Amino acid sequence: MARLEIRGLRKSYGKVEALKGIDLDIADGEFCVFVGPSGCGKSTLLRTIAGLEDINAGTIDIDGEVVNNLRPRDRNIAMVFQNYALYPYLNVYENIAFGLRARKVPDAEVKVRVGNAAEMLGISGLLDRTPRQLSGGQRQRVAIGRAVVRDARLFLFDEPLSNLDAQLRDGMRAEIKRLHQEIGKTTIYVTHDQIEAMTLADRIVLLRDGLIEQQGAPLDLFERPATRFVAGFLGSPQMNFVETKLEQADDGLALVFDQDRKLPLDPTRVPAFDKWRGRDVILGIRPEHMSRSGDGASRKPAETPLNVLVDLVQPTGTRTYAQFRLNGTEITVELPSHTVERPGTTIEILVDMSRIILVDPETQRVIPG
Ligand SMILES: Nc1ncnc2c1ncn2[C@@H]1O[C@H](COP(=O)(O)OP(=O)(O)O)[C@@H](O)[C@H]1O
Ligand SMILES: [Mg+2]
Repeated sequence: MARLEIRGLRKSYGKVEALKGIDLDIADGEFCVFVGPSGCGKSTLLRTIAGLEDINAGTIDIDGEVVNNLRPRDRNIAMVFQNYALYPYLNVYENIAFGLRARKVPDAEVKVRVGNAAEMLGISGLLDRTPRQLSGGQRQRVAIGRAVVRDARLFLFDEPLSNLDAQLRDGMRAEIKRLHQEIGKTTIYVTHDQIEAMTLADRIVLLRDGLIEQQGAPLDLFERPATRFVAGFLGSPQMNFVETKLEQADDGLALVFDQDRKLPLDPTRVPAFDKWRGRDVILGIRPEHMSRSGDGASRKPAETPLNVLVDLVQPTGTRTYAQFRLNGTEITVELPSHTVERPGTTIEILVDMSRIILVDPETQRVIPG
């Protein structure tokens, strides 16, 4: 059981400010994911919680106790790293048992606990092997087993799947999620992979340059990003961003790209955007919120198609992505898998105007609407 409260946390390495003031609450039993680009401070934040790094300011409180001055081993936290660091000369059983042995847990209990952990992770048949005789995925399981067996109050994972190939990663991701469902312990998981963050998290904490950019439930962040950075970070392929102008058209406000191409705004959202009339804004639209005229979804009366020239087509099997340029920006649209457009074809694109976001070019914040 563990509840975490972090206040005003700062950490510098010499002149590098890795954490610039973090305030964060994590509830008991929660699966919280720290995500963000490389170098944003995810590992540093995790390591300060584990007690592996000294901090410059702030407090870390676990279950009502400030642990700033507690040594790592007195914090009762288990951590799994990217390079699982198993003991090469010990077999799987002894690798998993290592922490228990160090705590002088009686043999009989070690046997039960290692047995349960191995069972849960599907490695009961491998207990006699040494790490050298295991695949990457099996080694990662042993590393997780070593953490699980300790009955720690808090589990920390730092990019545990980054060294595995894609297929194995998907499988292990599902296992980690299942493991959390079974044991229900507070878990903090670091990744730079937005898919991992979306699929695993109860709550995502998106870090950028040593600060929390936004936090919330995965779909909240996905559907209601506060900034362009968040909107662009979550989702694959990325949300498209195009510079445009909000102008008065014949029957209401429209986003105007050039003489022939404009998108009338969803009338229900016009009042929110009215004060931006005549100003430059950035349009954000996800590839999956555009379609090609005639591909099933019937055109709503207000929808005006954009004529665009396809310059690249990328089939993935489940979907096909087509690209075109608009106001000098490369835009990706998601189309059905059997689309056979060739580069050089002009197609009509419909934009779901209820799903767009508009971004203030100066602050890069999403304009409420
Ligand atoms: N031991 C260290 N010494 C000096 N700088 C470090 C050290 N560890 C991390 N940093 C710097 O702190 C920042 C945050 O790093 P880190 O927390 O590892 O980022 P992330 O895990 O998000 O990729 C980076 O600028 C990184 O270069
Ligand atoms: Mg890291």
